[in-house]
Amino acid sequence: IPVEPFDLVLFGATGDLAHRKILPGLFHRFVVGQMPDTARIIGSARSDMSVEEFRGTVRAAILEQAGDEVGPEEVLADFLSRIDYVRVNATGDEGWDELAGKLRADRVRAFYLSVAPSLFAEIAERLHAGGLATGDSRIVVEKPFGRDLQSAQELNAGLRACFDEHQIYRIDHYLGKETVQNLMALRFANSLFEPLWNSTHIDHVQITVAESLGIEGREAYYDKSGAMRDMVQNHLVQLLCLTAMEPPSKFTPNAVRDEKVKVIEALDPVPDEDIARGQYRAEKGGDGYLDHAGDPSSRTESFVAMKVRVANWRWSGTPFYLRTGKRLRARESEIAVVFRDPPHTIFPNVGHLRGNVLVIRLQPDEGITLRTTIKDPGPGGLRLKEVSLDMSFAEALGADSRPQDAYERLVMDVIRGDQTLFMRGDEVEAAWTWADPIIRAWDERTDQPTPYDTGSSGPEDALMLMHRDGRRWRQVGEG
Ligand code: BG6
Repeated sequence: IPVEPFDLVLFGATGDLAHRKILPGLFHRFVVGQMPDTARIIGSARSDMSVEEFRGTVRAAILEQAGDEVGPEEVLADFLSRIDYVRVNATGDEGWDELAGKLRADRVRAFYLSVAPSLFAEIAERLHAGGLATGDSRIVVEKPFGRDLQSAQELNAGLRACFDEHQIYRIDHYLGKETVQNLMALRFANSLFEPLWNSTHIDHVQITVAESLGIEGREAYYDKSGAMRDMVQNHLVQLLCLTAMEPPSKFTPNAVRDEKVKVIEALDPVPDEDIARGQYRAEKGGDGYLDHAGDPSSRTESFVAMKVRVANWRWSGTPFYLRTGKRLRARESEIAVVFRDPPHTIFPNVGHLRGNVLVIRLQPDEGITLRTTIKDPGPGGLRLKEVSLDMSFAEALGADSRPQDAYERLVMDVIRGDQTLFMRGDEVEAAWTWADPIIRAWDERTDQPTPYDTGSSGPEDALMLMHRDGRRWRQVGEG
């Protein structure tokens, strides 16, 4: 179903994210007929280039992303014909009048700020002052949304001076991932799980976002940020919220976000002994974090694991273990809900029975797995065996279900005016309120994060965090 007609202005249109994700995402939505004929995308950036030159760069980016699946040339040409370009100086007066002249009345306007956060407030102000922002306008911003509570509050204040909260779309692309949305479907569209979804039945939850790449090429940003700011405060906290939140009464943006904020507000401060920090080290003859960061004394963490307590009625006694890191054994992300062990065994000589584990796999091979115990087939005494009930979305949904990139979904939600999968201002601030003391305590330390090998599953301390509680991490890279 096509969305309503829109003008989308993409600031930072020549940048990496625009070319890797946003423009190819819009192309895919165009191919499936979701973009109405009159929709237009207006790229804007500081570079002096013609519309034709800009279209050429978009074309190249789409070909690179879509490869063989790009489809007929005329479809791509048709998409490119809807793209315009205006040179705009975000911090000066040039280009704004020309941009205003291109926007049409009576349609949704989306201003997508794929630019440095230091420009958010100024662009918002110019859109407002120049009369470009109408009542039917939306503004979209990307992380990093602040580097602490104070900077997040300042960013929010800058945006809210010019736009209402219901017009502000703060992207956390993890919320656009299919499986993340599926977590809500799994919990709230089935009757099987929710009655068990509490500390009476769940022993603990493990949330892992493991990456195999390092920080090469992004060091200027990453070394000032680290895994806590880059991944935990946003993506992992969001995954935790969706796992832990109470059922919202409706699937509406504020009902869902109200419940997520309550989870963040219920997070206990995390003491130092419940955290492991790591930094990947040089491989034999290779390079490590300190080479990549370009600062041999950098104390920035490329790995964090922590034990988090959600201090409310539902979760008291069930810890959430979070871990994320760069240069680990595999790129693998999942939420594993580990149920309590059976209280008693009726079977002789089988030893201790382990609890069921429900795994929601974000990547690769999105799907859901339930570890169960069954009888080992064959004659002879009754032996038990653990097997997985395995559902891969690609298999279950068939070939028609080309996996949608998170951005495709999110950009269309902006046009539709659906904020459910975007972070509300108070939610971002609540997450910083929780994360700030952890980061401040690290800033005061002078020791290095624990080194870990490239291709491993993180530093030893992270393993200890679990062992100490009589638990184990699931293996990274073993499916
Ligand atoms: C980004 C982080 O937000 O998410 C990156 O800045 C990280 O450091 C990326 O690599 C991970 O996203 P995905 O979708 O590849 O898991």
